[in-house]
Amino acid sequence: MRAAYIEKTGPPDVIRVGDLPVPEPGPGQALVRVKAVALNPFDLYLRAGIVKMPMTFPYILGSDFAGVVEKVGPEVGMFSPGDRVWGSNQGLKGRQGVAAEFAAIDEGWLNPIPEGLADVDAAAMAMVGITAHLGLFHRAGLKEGEAVYVPGGAGGVGSMVVQMAKAAGARVATSAGSPDRIDLCKQLGADLAFNYKTADLAATIREFGPEGIDVWYETQREPDLPTTVPLLNTRGRMVLMAGRDATPALPLGSFYPRDCSLLGFAMFNASAEEQQACASDMIRWVREGKLRPLVGRTFPLAEAAEAERFLESNTIGKAGQLAGKVVILVD
Ligand SMILES: NC(=O)c1ccc[n+]([C@@H]2O[C@H](COP(=O)([O-])OP(=O)(O)OC[C@H]3O[C@@H](n4cnc5c(N)ncnc54)[C@H](OP(=O)(O)O)[C@@H]3O)[C@@H](O)[C@H]2O)c1
Repeated sequence: MRAAYIEKTGPPDVIRVGDLPVPEPGPGQALVRVKAVALNPFDLYLRAGIVKMPMTFPYILGSDFAGVVEKVGPEVGMFSPGDRVWGSNQGLKGRQGVAAEFAAIDEGWLNPIPEGLADVDAAAMAMVGITAHLGLFHRAGLKEGEAVYVPGGAGGVGSMVVQMAKAAGARVATSAGSPDRIDLCKQLGADLAFNYKTADLAATIREFGPEGIDVWYETQREPDLPTTVPLLNTRGRMVLMAGRDATPALPLGSFYPRDCSLLGFAMFNASAEEQQACASDMIRWVREGKLRPLVGRTFPLAEAAEAERFLESNTIGKAGQLAGKVVILVD
């Protein structure tokens, strides 16, 4: 089968596209004929060797997938050949990735694709949607009527946070770096979308929520806590989920006397069962028209290295040429 893989970690040049054996599904696994693979910043960190996890070489790239069950191994009860499925969390913690014609995947990581949703869109919502859901609901306990702020509402995680927070009945403010992406945030349902390059963050947030933000979903790798913590409401919760090298100062005087919380998490610590609960809400919201995956640009499997270079120049290099997800189309 054709696959995009690496034999060692390093820059995008280490990515190869070639033939590897088709995996055999073991007990509890389905063999999925992969149609689409969405890329995430985490794929870049793993490929580069910046984040270390167990890896078997050749290591196939990619975590998020959509495709069709080709056949099932023993003890598979939930899925049958022909079922359309999507999911995330492959390529992590020693599991092989999905940027290949086939992938053998534990059925706990599989979710049904709602009717009418294209493979490219199902893959595009996988990790970012589960991450948005875990942060908003499992960690921050978002309630109806609360005020949410998420920087980067046209980005991968940000676009999911905006839509899910609206689906839950929150008031949502977000930001983006260009007029077209600000428009996109409004189309996704944001009550307020402003340009983070030109606006005064503190003044804009205070006008949006004079009492402060109840759930601040920080998506940036360089959080500025001295500026942002004072913008929380009393009992406000701030979700921190990016920036392994960041060492921001914490303004304690505006933090603990107002019962605020900082909540960190990494999506890969959530069990398959916990992630299924997120997926189940996502599927319902897609069916209800409340959740729309955003695809920014697609690449064929043969151009997997180019796809990673493009994502890297945007998500790390902040080139500003991307709104939504980079997706590799496998066939
Ligand atoms: N902890 C976890 O489990 C977990 C899971 C998934 C992702 N992550 C991390 O979350 C981060 C975001 O991931 P992603 O996939 O959403 O990335 P992304 O698609 O590249 O989105 C980044 C967003 O940040 C915005 N942005 C850039 N500079 C900004 C600034 N100064 N102020 C406000 N917004 C700004 C961009 O807006 P414009 O494009 O409009 O300029 C873009 O929308 C990454 O660091 C990733 O590693 C963590």
